[in-house]
Amino acid sequence: MFTTALTSVFLLSLGLEASAQSTSARTAYTPSRGACPADFQLVRSAGASNQTLGQDESNYVSTRKSQVQPSSWSTYLQNVQAKNFTLPDYVTSTLGNGSNNGMGLPNLGIATSGGGYRAAMFGAAVLNSLDGRNATSKDIGTGGLLQAATYLSGLSGGSWLVTSFAQANCPTFQDLVFGPSGSNNSTTDFGGWNAQFDLFLPSSNTTENLLFITEAISETGGKHAAGFPITIADPWARLLARHFANGTNPTNFFDTSVHGAGITFSGIANQSCFANHQLPLPIIVSDTRNPNDNESDVVTAEGDVVPLNNVIYEFTFFEMGSYDPPLASFTPTRFLGTTNTSSCVTNFDQATFICGASSELFNEFNITLQSFLTSSVGPVISILNSSLPEDDSVVELDVTMVPNPFFGVANGTFPQSNQAFLRLVDGGEDGQVIPLQPLLVKAREVDVILAIDGTNDISGYAAGSSVIATQNRTSFFPSAYSFPQVPTDINTFVGQNLTHHPTFFGCNESAPVPLLIYIANGAAPPGLPPITNVSTDQSSFTLPNAQAFLDEAYVIATQGFPNGSQTSDSEWPACLACAVVDRVRAKQNITRSGICSDCFNRYCWNATQSTLSTNNGGSGSSSSSSVTLHGNLKSTYAYGIIGAMVILSMAIL
Ligand SMILES: *[C@@H]1O[C@H](CO)[C@@H](O)[C@H](O)[C@H]1NC(C)=O
Ligand SMILES: *[C@@H]1O[C@H](CO)[C@@H](O)[C@H](O)[C@H]1NC(C)=O
Ligand SMILES: *[C@@H]1O[C@H](CO)[C@@H](O)[C@H](O)[C@H]1NC(C)=O
Ligand SMILES: *[C@@H]1O[C@H](CO)[C@@H](O)[C@H](O)[C@H]1NC(C)=O
Ligand SMILES: *[C@@H]1O[C@H](CO)[C@@H](O)[C@H](O)[C@H]1NC(C)=O
Ligand SMILES: *[C@@H]1O[C@H](CO)[C@@H](O)[C@H](O)[C@H]1NC(C)=O
Ligand SMILES: *[C@@H]1O[C@H](CO)[C@@H](O)[C@H](O)[C@H]1NC(C)=O
Ligand SMILES: *[C@@H]1O[C@H](CO)[C@@H](O)[C@H](O)[C@H]1NC(C)=O
Ligand SMILES: *[C@@H]1O[C@H](CO)[C@@H](O)[C@H](O)[C@H]1NC(C)=O
Ligand SMILES: *[C@@H]1O[C@H](CO)[C@@H](O)[C@H](O)[C@H]1NC(C)=O
Ligand SMILES: *[C@@H]1O[C@H](CO)[C@@H](O)[C@H](O)[C@H]1NC(C)=O
Ligand SMILES: *[C@@H]1O[C@H](CO)[C@@H](O)[C@H](O)[C@H]1NC(C)=O
Repeated sequence: MFTTALTSVFLLSLGLEASAQSTSARTAYTPSRGACPADFQLVRSAGASNQTLGQDESNYVSTRKSQVQPSSWSTYLQNVQAKNFTLPDYVTSTLGNGSNNGMGLPNLGIATSGGGYRAAMFGAAVLNSLDGRNATSKDIGTGGLLQAATYLSGLSGGSWLVTSFAQANCPTFQDLVFGPSGSNNSTTDFGGWNAQFDLFLPSSNTTENLLFITEAISETGGKHAAGFPITIADPWARLLARHFANGTNPTNFFDTSVHGAGITFSGIANQSCFANHQLPLPIIVSDTRNPNDNESDVVTAEGDVVPLNNVIYEFTFFEMGSYDPPLASFTPTRFLGTTNTSSCVTNFDQATFICGASSELFNEFNITLQSFLTSSVGPVISILNSSLPEDDSVVELDVTMVPNPFFGVANGTFPQSNQAFLRLVDGGEDGQVIPLQPLLVKAREVDVILAIDGTNDISGYAAGSSVIATQNRTSFFPSAYSFPQVPTDINTFVGQNLTHHPTFFGCNESAPVPLLIYIANGAAPPGLPPITNVSTDQSSFTLPNAQAFLDEAYVIATQGFPNGSQTSDSEWPACLACAVVDRVRAKQNITRSGICSDCFNRYCWNATQSTLSTNNGGSGSSSSSSVTLHGNLKSTYAYGIIGAMVILSMAIL
């Protein structure tokens, strides 16, 4: 059946080839080469044990700290105080007092996980609950924390959320998902996520779908003609652009307008919400494959295909690279594609290409040209091979290929030092589905992390596998990263219900170990039917279903830890405030007190105790039956369309 589908797609594609239009998008997607700026530096060494931040990031963060965050923290505090909690003095003095008498404000990072559309929508609902612009969130007493944060990281589905939000100039989350009301449907404005259109097969008409995919592929032809390898990540970027970049709305979804081509990741820095320092610094995470990784060896029960110690890349609007000690180097994002200092590439860092790199899990299908040739569709490929202008000893169709700016760097410790191309894949393929890595970089001095977990561990709900993997990885690089103690197995998460309500980790550890505020999509709220555990495969939502998902996720985000018959914990906004100030409290040698002590008794995971310190009798983790994980990443998008994209790209380019 697979073969038949591919063959018919192939035959149809030949007929459609001539009709592909895409001139404007094709041009806008093409990287260009030019002279390098006089002060161009291809590689910045960040220091393996003594990390330094890039100058642009330092400037952004310090301007925000002095000009924006004192008022955003005090606005957030006012929202909490409006609930009339009796907060300890240290909470109000820390947040309401500008620089807190030199003791500093909290340094909060928010991380929003992968898990396809499910994770993107769950993350959007949690961010909405923290958004001081939303009147409901302000009234609840959680609004304003988003504006106060320093960093906002995203991975895979979370990268779609963070990137679309920033490039659309920070609309409200309702407008982000559904498009700004009163939009004029232009080809430059943001038109919403268009979630009612499937990512791969948006039409009910097969011919229209083929035209659509053909168009997306042919939009990458200019990049190919300019000498860059085209892999599945390129048409993937063009499909994502219809949802997560400006220029597409329900009216023009199928036409051949520009659809966000030419919007670069580095260029998002010009959006006024960023340029005015209103936005926590966005960071997107991607994993990488080493040339000698033995995929068949590393596929684990969780479906993880990248070894935990492989370099993890991060992208800001300023820099791309890694603080991982084997590399500890960065290159300017604006010049991604460049490999020397005499010819500089620009326009390679297309915003949805970066999202594509972060969500590129097609390597899990193991679609190399070789494996295709030996498969049942081999004969079809062989015919196509004659028109394939790519060097199949170089191009790997199933990864994101980026000309390696770090060629020759740290030779000996950096496994990709002698590779012409970096091979980037989905940021969650090593099992770390929450993008925590950038927030653990010591030079960033993040003291509290709000981790949003939309991973699929069990039936579409999260059960902690991602933070377990991060705990494991931290042990490989103890000099570079610190992470609080979390359970070592998901049985503990499940047995103690740690994903059913917010849980704090690291309560009794101290800086530089950050406090982790963990909010998972772990279960339906009390009394409500399960809505937010849809499959990672789900690549479209009707608009009413999208709204129902967001509404239930918002309940999960704001319910706190209800006890017994309650449906929500009315003290949750105070508990959240207690958690965000806790490391600053400790720095001042102030003892935790009042409502904050109560909150920590309730929300903290106590590593030395078998169960949470609530009045539940204490036999929570006694469950001896082991929990079986569903493949987090394995069961994903339909094989047929992926195969079709690969074949079409070979046929057309
Ligand atoms: C660490 O980096 C800082 C800033 O670049 C520098 O001043 C300091 O000397 C370095 N320390 C070591 C031990 O290399
Ligand atoms: C808080 O107290 C003020 C003054 O007593 C009162 O006006 C307000 O309604 C109270 N707010 C809440 C949420 O109870
Ligand atoms: C604020 O958030 C609530 C809860 O999700 C939502 O129903 C409402 O539409 C939001 N308001 C705006 C203006 O986005
Ligand atoms: C924009 O498109 C939507 C959906 O097709 C339509 O309902 C709306 O009327 C359009 N707005 C304008 C100003 O054309
Ligand atoms: C996207 O459109 C919004 C308006 O909907 C605008 O504010 C923003 O600047 C646009 N972003 C880009 C990259 O063009
Ligand atoms: C499907 O789309 C094609 C191309 O737009 C069109 O010619 C054809 O009539 C459509 N078929 C149906 C059943 O609507
Ligand atoms: C991927 O395909 C290659 C070549 O066909 C094969 O050797 C390898 O075992 C496959 N890997 C996995 C994880 O299936
Ligand atoms: C890296 O090291 C190997 C052997 O240690 C050497 O052959 C190779 O030339 C080096 N490459 C670079 C780019 O320095
Ligand atoms: C973490 O490490 C433990 C102990 O080495 C191992 O059993 C477990 O499989 C690892 N889990 C992940 C997700 O890496
Ligand atoms: C907190 O206590 C430590 C250890 O006693 C001391 O070194 C530090 O100066 C104290 N900090 C403040 C702000 O009092
Ligand atoms: C953690 O649990 C142990 C065992 O019940 C108890 O002795 C300890 O005081 C608890 N720690 C905290 C901080 O609650
Ligand atoms: C976990 O939740 C279930 C049902 O919500 C409850 O019966 C059980 O007692 C909880 N376990 C713990 C340790 O709180």
